[in-house]
Amino acid sequence: MAIVNMKELLINAQQENYCIGAFSIANMEMIMGALKAAEETRSPIILQIAEVRLKYSPLSLIAPMMIEGARHAEVPVAVHLDHGESLDTIEEALTLGFTSVMYDGSHLPIEENIKNTKKVIAMAKKYGAAVEGEIGIIGKKEDGSGDGESLITRVEDAKKFYDETGVDALAIAIGNAHGVYTSAPNLNFTRLKEISTSIKVPLVLHGGSGITEEGFKESIEYGIKKINVATATFNSVVKSVDKLFKSSNTVDYFTYHNNVIEAAYENIKKHIKIFGSYNKA
Ligand code: 13P
Repeated sequence: MAIVNMKELLINAQQENYCIGAFSIANMEMIMGALKAAEETRSPIILQIAEVRLKYSPLSLIAPMMIEGARHAEVPVAVHLDHGESLDTIEEALTLGFTSVMYDGSHLPIEENIKNTKKVIAMAKKYGAAVEGEIGIIGKKEDGSGDGESLITRVEDAKKFYDETGVDALAIAIGNAHGVYTSAPNLNFTRLKEISTSIKVPLVLHGGSGITEEGFKESIEYGIKKINVATATFNSVVKSVDKLFKSSNTVDYFTYHNNVIEAAYENIKKHIKIFGSYNKA
């Protein structure tokens, strides 16, 4: 077991009808928590970081930790750049050894999105890496900013985008949003079914935090094969650390360190179980 291409994980998930969790991390402790959860549950996972987060966790530092962690894992782990915005950052991630990258051109006119995604696919091919594209507008940006307005993916756009690019995974908008949902998410399963019956690409659901267990299960049943979870893990860590510091006046550094690992581990393990990738390694 080792670092793997994301495409491989998604094809297996497609054949056996389960879903791979793509867990966003920000530091070494969260990477350790994610790997612990994956190994304990014998689950393949995707470790990811979004370009917008690299101002906090520089790619040159976080990438080697993600890659070495994946390489030494007892289960298959793909290392993914989430919401790549610039071709330079995408190329840097590929050079450092990421096995998958997302190009997010969802805000662009479809022709431009297709053109840029094709450039990324050509680039990733040189490194043997997989590519995720996006079509439709997911409410709020990856860091939770933005007005939350979403634009449900149209079937004909998804089909055109996939036919012309041949991406390995396709993120769609079905009423999902990044960050904390301001009201209960209302996922458009009818549209999801229409898209998944018209194209055979593994579909990706962003904005996993705040979706209910039933919502996840229904999404997976109708074709979602990768679900991104970020905010729920970050919030679990903050909540747990807050509780730790409130419980004592003298918290030593390494108690705090272990607390971060455990909080990330617990949240990721919970999602792995819901996603059905348990024991699929
Ligand atoms: P959440 O922060 O809502 O879990 O979204 C994660 C995500 O989709 C990252 O791309």
